[in-house]
This record gives sequence, C-alpha cells and structure tokens, in this order.
Amino acid sequence: METNFNVTAQAELRKLVAYQRVATALAHPNIAFIKYWGNQDDRLRLPANPSLSMNLGCLYTLTTVSFDDGLSSDLLLINEVPIYGAALARVSAMLNWVREKANLTTAAKIESVSNFPIGSGIASSAAAFAALSVASSAAAGLDLSEAAVSQLARRGSGSASRSVPTGYSEWVMGDDETSVARSLAPPEFWDLRDIIVVVNQEHKAVGSTGGHALAKTSSLQAARLVGAINRFQLCRESLLARDLATMGPIIEEDAIIMHAVMMSSHPPIYYWDATTMMIIQAVQQWRREGLPVYFTIDAGPNVHLICEAKDAETVMVQARQLPNIESVMSSDVGGPAMLID
Ligand code: PMV
Repeated sequence: METNFNVTAQAELRKLVAYQRVATALAHPNIAFIKYWGNQDDRLRLPANPSLSMNLGCLYTLTTVSFDDGLSSDLLLINEVPIYGAALARVSAMLNWVREKANLTTAAKIESVSNFPIGSGIASSAAAFAALSVASSAAAGLDLSEAAVSQLARRGSGSASRSVPTGYSEWVMGDDETSVARSLAPPEFWDLRDIIVVVNQEHKAVGSTGGHALAKTSSLQAARLVGAINRFQLCRESLLARDLATMGPIIEEDAIIMHAVMMSSHPPIYYWDATTMMIIQAVQQWRREGLPVYFTIDAGPNVHLICEAKDAETVMVQARQLPNIESVMSSDVGGPAMLID
C-alpha cells in the first residue's frame, strides 16, 4: 500500500469528489502499545489517559460515502450487509457533525468493506471511523486538516483518532479541539511487525463503548491512570530509540493493567479465554529461549505479538503451532488514512 500519498494528488482528488459528492477512503486499524480505556467525556470521547499505537498496514477498511438527494435517511452497508439500529445511529451521528459543518441536509449511503474480522478486538472501529471521517468530510466538500479529521474520527471511536496519521501515532489528552492524534514516526522509521493470533473472531459480548463507561467502576482504574502517564513517556522514548527490549515489557504491563481494570469493573468484563492465557505463557517461554517478542491484547481474546521484522517469520511459525487457535495474521506498519477515489 502506497503510504506517502502525494499531497497534490490528494488535493486534486478532493476537488473532484466534492463536486460528485461521492468519496472513497482507506484506513488501517491500529494496535495500541499504551491503551486508551475510559473517558473524561463519554459523548466527545475525550480520553482519561494518553495512548500510543502502530497502524497495521496489511489490514484495511475501505469506505465509500455518497450523499444522495434520493435517500430519505442514511443507509449503511458493512461487508455488503445492510445494518440498522445502534451501529447505524453511531455512523449517522458522525455524519451529522459533517453535515452541520458543511451546511448539508442530504442523507448518505455508506458502504464499508474490511479485509479482516470485525468486532473481535482487532480495532475494526478504529479503521472504520477513520475511513468514514476522511470519506464523509471529502464527499461533503470540507477540506479538513489532519488534526480536524483525527478529531472527527475520535468522536466516532476514540482509537480511530490514531488511525488518521501515518505510522506510529500518539493521541494526547485535552479538550474537543486539542485531544487529537499526531504521527510520532512514519512506517519506515522502524520495521516492527504485529503477528495477530486469532483465538476467536466472533463479535465480542461487551463492545468498547460500554467498556469505557465501566472503567471508572474499577478500584484499579485510578492507579492505572497515574501509571499510564509514566508508561506513555517511557514507551514513546523507547519507540523513538527503536529499543524493543525496553518497550516490550512496558506494552505488556500496560495491556495487563487494562485487563485488570476490565476484570475488576462492576459488572466485570472478561475478554480472555483459556487460549489467551496459554499464548501469554508461550510468549514468555519463547523469550526465555531467546526470541524477542512481546504480547499485547485489546478488547477481545486475540493476542498481538510485537516483534522486529527479522524475527517475524520465526514468530509466525511458532504461533501457527499453538493449539486451539483459529488463524495467524501478520502486518507491517501502515500509512495514514487517505482518500483514494
Ligand atoms: O476506540 P474504542 O472505543 O474501540 O476503544 C479501543 C480500546 C482498546 O482497543 C482496548 C485500546 C486502544 O487504545 O486501542
């Protein structure tokens, strides 16, 4: 996938799609090294801590938004299936921000396809809302800065803010204007890989929106938030020094603390299953045997194995031998969300 998409070509494309009121955008999901869990403001999705992530270049969502005077209400198709209810309402809410800004009242057709399982803790909402922000704003004729697109994406799904900039992104705390993501480094800065061990690709029982709202009911959340600032700084520094031996233990600790908060919420959320725990133990064993690989886990049972490109093949081979897993996917570092048609 071309990551350094020509800025002039994007500007030309923007003029054309604004005229036609139809735009297609591509965005990658991202895997957080320092997790976002819990909001200061649930409606605007202003996070309770800063977070840091890597875009996943081999996975993507493609979204086409067509404003159409012939439609009486928004129409959403995900992987060609019409979707109604809460998911449509969430998409329409984002389109309403765009319509308000562009002074439009027209309904839209939104068609979204992904090349990876959605709703199973592989950050599908991040790619979906990042692509939707780019496509809907362009189709509405808005020429938004990267920060403004990241702000828009954040209102749809917090982690989507981080899928807007290229490569490795940091999303800072702040108010509606300032809590946006920016790129820390482009993909070519460090050839890390995410080997995703899919344990179960079914839709998770508790979505992240509900989970964020529960975070404050855990007595561990306050401690998590204090430590997150420190872990964020250390992770940022070790990433910029390309120092996996320092960064790896920090990302593992950060993921475990987030899951401790989830498991101690009222009611508790258990995203892991027995296979998840087995993979954590396998990673520890592989490290004892000299393989530099570290795990992280989002809101689902699947385990992301972070390693350098030179070790990716070995990690893949070992991961494929694990029992009770569904599949293994590999991704390099991805570029920004962008307009493609
Ligand atoms: O963007 P949301 O609301 O789907 O939340 C994502 C939460 C985690 O994936 C668990 C962590 C993160 O920072 O991506």
